[in-house]
Amino acid sequence: MDPITQSEAASSLTDGQEAGSSGPANGHANAANGASSANGSTSAANGHGNSAGNGHGNAPNGNGNASSTPNGHQSAAVLQQRVDSDFRNVLGKGLAACRRNILTAGIFSFFVNILLLAMPIYLFQLSDRVYTSRSTDTLIMLSLVVGGAIVAHVFLDMIRRFILMRVAVETEAKLGAPVLSAAAKASQTGSNREFQLLGDLQHLRHFITGPVILLMMDVPVAPVYLAATFLIHPDLGWIVGGTGTILFIIAIINQKLTAVPYTQANTFAMRANLAADAMSRNSQVINAMGMIPEGVQIWGRETASSLKAHLAAQDRNIYMTGLSKLVRLFTQVAILGWGARLALRDDVTAGMVIAASIIGSRALSPIEGTIEGWRSFIQARAAYARIKTLLENSPLNWERLRLPRAEGRLTVERILYVPPPTKKVILNGISFELEPGESLAIVGASGSGKSTLARMLVGSIIPTAGNVRLDRMDLRNWDPRQFGQSVGYLPQDVQLFPASIKANIARMREDVTDEMIFDAAELADVHEMISHFAHGYETQVLIDGSPLSGGQKQRIGLARAFFGDPRLVVLDEPNSNLDGPGEVALANALSRAKRKNITVVAITQRPALLQSADKIMVIKEGTAQAIGKREDIMPLLAAANGAGKNGQMSPASQVFT
Ligand SMILES: Nc1ncnc2c1ncn2[C@@H]1O[C@H](COP(=O)(O)OP(=O)(O)OP(=O)(O)O)[C@@H](O)[C@H]1O
Ligand SMILES: [Mg+2]
Repeated sequence: MDPITQSEAASSLTDGQEAGSSGPANGHANAANGASSANGSTSAANGHGNSAGNGHGNAPNGNGNASSTPNGHQSAAVLQQRVDSDFRNVLGKGLAACRRNILTAGIFSFFVNILLLAMPIYLFQLSDRVYTSRSTDTLIMLSLVVGGAIVAHVFLDMIRRFILMRVAVETEAKLGAPVLSAAAKASQTGSNREFQLLGDLQHLRHFITGPVILLMMDVPVAPVYLAATFLIHPDLGWIVGGTGTILFIIAIINQKLTAVPYTQANTFAMRANLAADAMSRNSQVINAMGMIPEGVQIWGRETASSLKAHLAAQDRNIYMTGLSKLVRLFTQVAILGWGARLALRDDVTAGMVIAASIIGSRALSPIEGTIEGWRSFIQARAAYARIKTLLENSPLNWERLRLPRAEGRLTVERILYVPPPTKKVILNGISFELEPGESLAIVGASGSGKSTLARMLVGSIIPTAGNVRLDRMDLRNWDPRQFGQSVGYLPQDVQLFPASIKANIARMREDVTDEMIFDAAELADVHEMISHFAHGYETQVLIDGSPLSGGQKQRIGLARAFFGDPRLVVLDEPNSNLDGPGEVALANALSRAKRKNITVVAITQRPALLQSADKIMVIKEGTAQAIGKREDIMPLLAAANGAGKNGQMSPASQVFT
């Protein structure tokens, strides 16, 4: 409840699980930022980020670094252990506190509502005692008591709202980082859907801070109120009870009538958002080829459908709400009218009738509100269930032994890859082994499965059958963070984070020394290129990669792959955008990597890179056509190519058909 627990909770937002360790993860993270639903929570995370981030940066330094391991490795390990234990505890211990607080708010609610009875009791007493006894003292006493009750009511009401507000913030803060981590991990199996769970989290927060939960907390007092009307006069009690039943039936009909159109409206709205998102990602293409009208049309179609469904739902909702309002107002008339009749017969006093009318409406309003808000309760519950399932089933829950530092022996055993919906075999029976420090070049026609294989070697997708092992250990059994630090990956479509070049090379880690960044830049031979920028390493890269050119991005991506002394580096067409000097730099980087005993797998379409490889693999339609030493494979490739005319290889696999 206090600010300390809040900031603690908030700090968990800033701990990423595997930030920036692999290319596809970058892509997804960008997509998540772009999605409108995720924006709110992202900015919230930033808001807390600074103070929390600094805290983590400093603490590990305090441990000292007696060993020769770079400081970054140690502190990262400490950070990782904390994040891991947070992840495992969040659903248990973490949320237990939230549940306890909601219960407390519920207890407060009970007293808030009981105190509200002061007003009708006051009325009651006025008409019964003050008017009959004509005592000013009694009037003053009663007024003081009711005044005190009102102050207590307002005070307790404020407290329960404060509590709920904090529970909401705490829930989102506690779950935010684990949900994003688990979503990023789940995207490994090829779907980005889990990133939308950040939206679910916001949904949950809105529900906890919204009016419905307060009304629901008022419900337990409704029977007390109903009993009070019965006590005043059974007839009045029956009127209130009967109305409650009618309102309940109307609300259920309302739910049934509006459920389908509301769901439709949401689905279309989501598709409209996706369309707008796609437009923003392809803004260059859209502007260049005058595709704005088409983009707007697609978005407009979805939006129009969403609005139409929404309108239909709202229309029905207005009818039913009107009906329930009618019933409620008639109830007031019925209580007052019937009450007057009872008063004429001297069964009750006028004050009792007015009191009964107030109590009656108090009894009905939480019931009505809860029924109206039932949909948002169901949605919030479903959102929570989805989040819970994601977190419980996430592989991040499993404890993994931290292994000794990898050497870089890569073993691939008969891997098969058949992504779920298509049933198309993309990789089939590929096996090879690389010793630490060995390099392999992979060539093959477009669509032959090279990039898929590369993603599999760095564990970003999981083979349907077969194994990929680093140092004899299956990738799935590696501690994800430790594995990430042991590998480097340059994807075919390089995406950088919107941050400085320095931060990008450092894989967005904050616990690194400048020396480590410089080492990576030196190894990848990009130091000179970076020096030519006006702001050098501090140059800010924007979300679309500007101000860097395609080739420059690729070279920064290369430095990122070599950052932190990885043992296995996988490069997917690292030279596709490079000029002559860029290719020379790449060749230098590869020979330096060899000297440092780094295992390298490079995919290429150009012969230049083949010269620096120990082994070559030719891949065709997902199967290895040939694999062997460079000296053995080169003549075959050369024969097929007419000795590599004009530097561009024709698809090498043609030879082997
Ligand atoms: N997630 C996926 N679902 C279905 N098919 C996929 C998936 N990923 C890749 N493919 C298919 O797998 C094949 C191999 O794709 P991959 O990107 O690995 O080719 P590549 O050899 O890298 O080609 P290029 O030289 O053009 O980069 C393609 O036919 C592609 O359509
Ligand atoms: Mg490719």
